[in-house]
Amino acid sequence: MRTQFIHQFSYTPYAETGGRVVSIQSPATVANMVCGFDVLGFAVTDPYDEMHIRFTDTPGVTIVNLDAYDLPTQPEQNVAGAALLAMLDEVAEPIGLEVSIFKHIKPGSGVGSSAASAAGAVVAANRLFNDRFSKSDLVRFAMNGEKVASGVKHADNIAPCIYGGVTLIRSIFPLDIVELSAPPLYVTLVHPQIEVRTADARGILKQQVLLKDAIRQWGNIAGLVAGLLQGDYALIGRSLEDVLIEPVRSILIPGFADIKQQSREAGALGGGISGSGPSIFMLSKDEATAKDVEAAMHGIYEKLGLDHHTYVTTINHQGVKFIN
Ligand code: HSE
Repeated sequence: MRTQFIHQFSYTPYAETGGRVVSIQSPATVANMVCGFDVLGFAVTDPYDEMHIRFTDTPGVTIVNLDAYDLPTQPEQNVAGAALLAMLDEVAEPIGLEVSIFKHIKPGSGVGSSAASAAGAVVAANRLFNDRFSKSDLVRFAMNGEKVASGVKHADNIAPCIYGGVTLIRSIFPLDIVELSAPPLYVTLVHPQIEVRTADARGILKQQVLLKDAIRQWGNIAGLVAGLLQGDYALIGRSLEDVLIEPVRSILIPGFADIKQQSREAGALGGGISGSGPSIFMLSKDEATAKDVEAAMHGIYEKLGLDHHTYVTTINHQGVKFIN
């Protein structure tokens, strides 16, 4: 079922909820944070998806698309649907859920579009179930959505989307999520209007790494975590280096090297590929610098004649937000 850009809801009240509709905003996220492939991620304030969920008397999951992306409405093939089915499996009652999704985060942009849908769906549904599940349970359910999107269960978008802030996924099986504090940081995002499928961006990665590269990488991850906890901007900047993934993936992103170099020249602490790309993010200490970085990004993509969107935003410490 698909309706187009309708932003009004008229629901029939259902006895189970007193007709309750839970509405949320589910934020975009930046996975990897340059050196922390599959283990680090943070949520941003902008952009975010809007979702609404209610019980229905049709057992199972019904997906209603309110945007123009024409995403699958078969629950097993839809990231929000797969996450909700995993949740309903544990509820083990013949319950029906209908989720309406208005995506502002473009699929395939590298800022956690699939995670926003999957995480938003289970957080909203959990409210209907009177918060019966823990955040860690919700991450576990939502990872089923990531499996649909990329073939692999990873939590570095899902966890920050649900917990807010910066999260470290120390382990996936079993789940061990560590919330990290961070000093004030501004985030500049640029999304060149090309699509990179996460599955493809994972498929080109090397399966073996050299010990010397691994040593450099875990030095950077540890440095970044220490920099965040201590509020040490210089250490954060030095640690935003990726010797394993970026050299392979950056070839998929036009202008990547120039954006990195000119963003640093404009005063950014550093940055790199957002998730599996093609979006690129840069961190700055203050908003004025983040805007200078945005101008540098514009300049590069205008020169290349490449359509692009930018955001100047902040780290979102709340994660999924209830709007009713
Ligand atoms: N860690 C994942 C990857 C994030 O880089 O493939 C995908 O958004």
